[in-house]
Amino acid sequence: MKTSQLAKGCLLIDCRGFDEKTINLFLAPGPDPYRETEEFLLDCEMRADELPRHLRRALLEFQLYSNSEGILLLRGLPVDPGLDHTRTPALAQRSEEKTTFVSERCLAMIGSRLGHLVSYIQEKNGDLFQNLVPTPDSEEVQSSEGSRTRLQFHRETVFHPHSPEFLLLFCLRPDHDRVAETTYASIRHVLPLLGERERELLFEPLYRTGIDYSFGNRQALINGPILPVLYGRREDPFWNYDEDLMVGLTPEASLALEALRKGIHAVYQGIKLETGDLLCIDNRRTVHGRTAFSPRYDGFDRWIQRSFVVRDLGLSAGDRHPGERIIRTAFATEGEAQAALNGGQVCLRRS
Ligand SMILES: [Fe+2]
Repeated sequence: MKTSQLAKGCLLIDCRGFDEKTINLFLAPGPDPYRETEEFLLDCEMRADELPRHLRRALLEFQLYSNSEGILLLRGLPVDPGLDHTRTPALAQRSEEKTTFVSERCLAMIGSRLGHLVSYIQEKNGDLFQNLVPTPDSEEVQSSEGSRTRLQFHRETVFHPHSPEFLLLFCLRPDHDRVAETTYASIRHVLPLLGERERELLFEPLYRTGIDYSFGNRQALINGPILPVLYGRREDPFWNYDEDLMVGLTPEASLALEALRKGIHAVYQGIKLETGDLLCIDNRRTVHGRTAFSPRYDGFDRWIQRSFVVRDLGLSAGDRHPGERIIRTAFATEGEAQAALNGGQVCLRRS
């Protein structure tokens, strides 16, 4: 098989035909992911070794080559027994009603074939398995707790020195009206829409990125790093992009960024995630977002669990405690950043 064929890769794996032995890999009880985290992750990685060969091969190809869309959807994975009657947590915190860990095992087992799970201290208390649910105070906010406003396209934690290579979204429950789509766009589709001069500019460090709301920022655009939007191979680049938090530093750079934004809106696609769907996103090649939906706060709203994956744990070792997966990189406060900018410096973080 040629690399070009591999690079196309598959986008969807139907897991509904798993045999009993495979389903049991996800269902059989094991260590507690919240109290015995490392044991749980080791156990999941060993279980993943026994997954069907075609699934392991598809995950390996996705890890190595990505694919045309930068996504891989596993449809119909096992879910926790009694999930139909388990209420969506009211806040983005751990569900007290969910006492089994099948969804966590799906995330950890699949994630282990792509790399290693990590979390960030500023997000959801550093949970490795984060509950994304709509909350009343955040309906119009650009964050995973929003709902009534479209979540704009972004690379996850684009401002962070240890942003994840992969993002995993496991759907425990779609929204009531089945309208919410997880949207995505790959740079592989956007790049051909850009002119040569626009590409040149986007490869230059001419773009300032704000710090995400979930990392404590309430006044966007003053305290993030200056980055190029495109980096890596000229013909097949990676990208840093955040529709909400990124600005060009010159008029020409801003025009190129606007051309990129239009390109994303011309090519993006959407998926309505269903219960048991696990969507893997290549965070370096594909930006994602979400369409609007209407929450009801009745205990059965949309419920997604999210995990982050890095290829090399060693790169963040200096910002983690020994034996922990929580990345603790500290960022400058807005006041500190403003003072640094006024003094002509770029102040990114305090650790
Ligand atoms: Fe996101």
